[in-house]
Amino acid sequence: MWKPSERIKHRIEDTFWPTPSEAEQSLLFSPIKMGKTLSLEQRTWVPAMVPWRATEAGEITPELLAWYGRFAQGRPGAIVVEATGIRDIPSGPLLRIGHSRFLKGLEQLVATIHEQSNGHTRVLIQLIDFLRIRRRPGREKFLNQFLKVTSAHRQNLARCLSDDSLLEATENVVRTHLLAAESTLLDEVLSRRELESLRFGLRERVTDMEQEHIRNLPQVLPELFAQAAVRAQSAGFDGVELHYAHAYTMASFLSRHNTRDDAYGGSREQRVRLPLEVYSAVRNAVGSDYCVGARYLCDEIIEGGNDVDDATWFGVEFARAGMDYLSLSTGGKFEDAKQPKVGWAAYPYTGQSGYECMPTVISDAVGPFGRQIPKQARIRAAIRGAEFDTPIVVAGGIHSFEQAESILQCGHGDIVAAARQSIADPDWFRKVQLGQGQSIRRCLFTNYCEALDQKHKQVTGQLWDKESLDEPGLLMSTDGKRRLTAPK
Ligand SMILES: Cc1cc2nc3c(=O)[nH]c(=O)nc-3n(C[C@H](O)[C@H](O)[C@H](O)COP(=O)(O)O)c2cc1C
Ligand code: SF4
Repeated sequence: MWKPSERIKHRIEDTFWPTPSEAEQSLLFSPIKMGKTLSLEQRTWVPAMVPWRATEAGEITPELLAWYGRFAQGRPGAIVVEATGIRDIPSGPLLRIGHSRFLKGLEQLVATIHEQSNGHTRVLIQLIDFLRIRRRPGREKFLNQFLKVTSAHRQNLARCLSDDSLLEATENVVRTHLLAAESTLLDEVLSRRELESLRFGLRERVTDMEQEHIRNLPQVLPELFAQAAVRAQSAGFDGVELHYAHAYTMASFLSRHNTRDDAYGGSREQRVRLPLEVYSAVRNAVGSDYCVGARYLCDEIIEGGNDVDDATWFGVEFARAGMDYLSLSTGGKFEDAKQPKVGWAAYPYTGQSGYECMPTVISDAVGPFGRQIPKQARIRAAIRGAEFDTPIVVAGGIHSFEQAESILQCGHGDIVAAARQSIADPDWFRKVQLGQGQSIRRCLFTNYCEALDQKHKQVTGQLWDKESLDEPGLLMSTDGKRRLTAPK
């Protein structure tokens, strides 16, 4: 993962933990309403995290139920189930909600979270659409099989090699020249996009207007999201979260990189159009009482991408449209991802934007703890300034009661999300509430869990995955070396 050049190592400092009565009087453990009917008992939140525990067919597994059940035992105000695919297409071991056959498993998931939290935790599901991304191909495979030879290649080769006969060359001759070419020659002959496909793997974009399925996204996505939301509602989820963040389709519509020329790209008004149409289709399908929120970026952290001004503007529009909450994340983009190894797909958390999404203790002077809160607070202030009371969920390096309570007291956010601290100790919110803060396993923010995610391996926490492996009935990782849930 990218790291700031300063490389200052931050410590996990000792912190103040409240007594039960101090916790009871805190804002963190006070209730909050999200929309017309949903109330959280407390303002604590486990945000969406893909733990790589679904089957290849996108179905629920016992391992996945155990993972969420374990978070539920810590009784956060809400758990958002991982990014779940809205289409009925093979997506590897990512959870799916693109067909009614997924309902039974999803119902079990909801029941597990409600049961394990004794009814204290509300459960939402994050709905995602993503475009195709291929693994990085070997050079020969790409030049022999994937590259479509065009007249542009012939012209570029003829120019670079000063050989006009190449203007009429057969496809085989062109490929032979390309296979023998130095990479500087390939830079001259292939287009930017082809070079990217060669060096990173093919990645579709919302701006690929020559492709019908991309051009038609605004026609198909509202209905796909709406149907998925209806399934979530019938499976018993307390609400849905539209995934408008990170590297995926809806965030790409919002991005300044979206230059589509069909009224869904260009200006902010046009970039927000599809996200609003999706929201409106979902709202019409689930009714006005059901909780519908969105997760989006307070800053894309990529060159030429959205900044906090764009995010502030979008936030007001989302609030105006009637979204029941807004959850803010940061970065996590493909544009600055590192080159993957051959056979691997690019991972959108390897560049600076990925760092800002999940910052580690090797940081700059600001450090990893709540470093994006000032931007998130600005967005909230603008939404309040426009007279909307939409709850704002903030995230990024939050790991102590003091920090969480101060964010709420200062009006920088309304609900506090903690992803990695919740992996490190799924009971941590409950321990804080019960005055047992001293026994919390504190996240080291070194991103062992994120590295597992990057390799699409079952995500576990380094503080506990080798502990008490002789416990009877333990669910173990596929490599047989790690327990899959934190010990009690
Ligand atoms: C293993 C892992 C998987 C994640 N998967 C998702 C996801 O599915 N959807 C999402 O919006 N964010 C995802 N995130 C980002 C987190 O929700 C969160 O925004 C990020 O980790 C920063 O919060 P933290 O500092 O509390 O960990 C993931 C994070 C981790 C560590
Ligand atoms: S592996 Fe554990 S300690 Fe390390 S960052 Fe993830 S949750 Fe924190």
